[in-house]
Amino acid sequence: MPAMSAQESSIHKANPPRTIAVTGGKGGVGKTSVALNLALTLARHEKRVLLLDGDTDLANVSIMLGLYPERTLANVVTGECRLEDILLEANYGLHILPGASGVQECMDMAPEDSFRILRALSMLERRYDYVITDTAAGLQPTGLHMIAAAELACVVVTPDPASLTDAFSLIKVLKRRGYKRTPSVLVNMAQGASQARSVFQRLDAAARRHLQSSLHYMGGIWRDETLRQSVLNQQPVALLPLSDPSCRQFSTLADMLEVRLAQLPVRKAGIAAYWHSVSKRQSASARKADVQDASATSRERCLQAVGELETVLGGADESAMLRYDVFMRLFALLGRTPDNDTIEIIQTGLGAIAWENLSSEQREHLATHLRHLADEITLTDTPSDSPGEEERSLPQPVLPEPFYDRISFGDQENLVKVLKEQPSGISLNQLLRSLAKEDGSGA
Ligand SMILES: Nc1ncnc2c1ncn2[C@@H]1O[C@H](COP(=O)(O)OP(=O)(O)O)[C@@H](O)[C@H]1O
Ligand SMILES: [Mg+2]
Repeated sequence: MPAMSAQESSIHKANPPRTIAVTGGKGGVGKTSVALNLALTLARHEKRVLLLDGDTDLANVSIMLGLYPERTLANVVTGECRLEDILLEANYGLHILPGASGVQECMDMAPEDSFRILRALSMLERRYDYVITDTAAGLQPTGLHMIAAAELACVVVTPDPASLTDAFSLIKVLKRRGYKRTPSVLVNMAQGASQARSVFQRLDAAARRHLQSSLHYMGGIWRDETLRQSVLNQQPVALLPLSDPSCRQFSTLADMLEVRLAQLPVRKAGIAAYWHSVSKRQSASARKADVQDASATSRERCLQAVGELETVLGGADESAMLRYDVFMRLFALLGRTPDNDTIEIIQTGLGAIAWENLSSEQREHLATHLRHLADEITLTDTPSDSPGEEERSLPQPVLPEPFYDRISFGDQENLVKVLKEQPSGISLNQLLRSLAKEDGSGA
């Protein structure tokens, strides 16, 4: 039934590929050699394979094949060409995507641009049975993301102790960042099966002891002069006759990989879906950072204003008037939303004013301000009419009682004394009240 088969084929196409990241904590352990020979071997087995060249080293996949890409993913990111345009075709129909580490750049793009590229990548990867990434060494975010994006991490190590400590660090960082899957370990450049095993066991024991997680043993690749030469000749060993021992090692590895993948649940999404979620997360946190920036700016502006105030007031000995004017304005500002903290700030501020330097005219002025301030504080509690146009014409006390009048305020020594004696928890109203009382008894 044709309709049926069309549907079947569309289901087949909709299946995401199996995804493998070939990685390792250290350069020179053979990641690229493994990734390329594994990809070629699978392609030779008539699988559709895409190899993402995510290594930033010079000895990358293309060079090992003697292919020199004119354009890489970077050109797709800048919009110069399409994803399909940069694909290279190697032996057995293996496809290679050069410059795959450039996918990280997508994260810095406007969401619609990164979406365009990731969508293209998503469409592309559906055409393959396997997508293999050759990742860069080290603990850079791009490499870590490439590992997280793949359903299977193949960590390449060698018998060299440094490669083990680097692999351990890599696994530790992955675990710390929430990586839940069990990494597979491939021991490269081993002298034999037992050495490969014991190298794996050392790493596995360390992971169990210190990271509370076990590792999967993928197998070993022997130290191999043919393989080393193949890199120089740009003729990967996977192209040799199937009977060749160097070539056969990778057939065995491909079989081991199939066995391992069969044990893992098939994932619904491929690599592009992972990057898409990273992109969304990053733009969300960028938005958050923007908000934090804005609040930092307002904080900065506040600090700047305080700094300016210090400069202006510090040098303004000619103007006690100016000084308390500034204070009063600040208090009035604070007084719009009075709470206990605000009132305490106002009190402290009042205490800091050099009252004794004020002339009687200035004191009168201050009294006016204080009265308005007291009004504002009182009025915010009781919704009522606006204070009215009383600025210049002092007389009617808006407060019930007590209020400041010029006479009591004029008693400068007393005022200063009382201000200094006030406990910090006192409200402005209490302050005014006690001033009036003190004044009354003192007079
Ligand atoms: N099994 C092996 N036997 C001998 N030499 C190897 C083997 N695997 C890799 N090499 C050599 O090690 C060097 C580094 O390999 P490469 O794949 O570029 O490592 P990486 O990608 O981890 O930096 C290359 O010169 C390569 O020929
Ligand atoms: Mg490499």
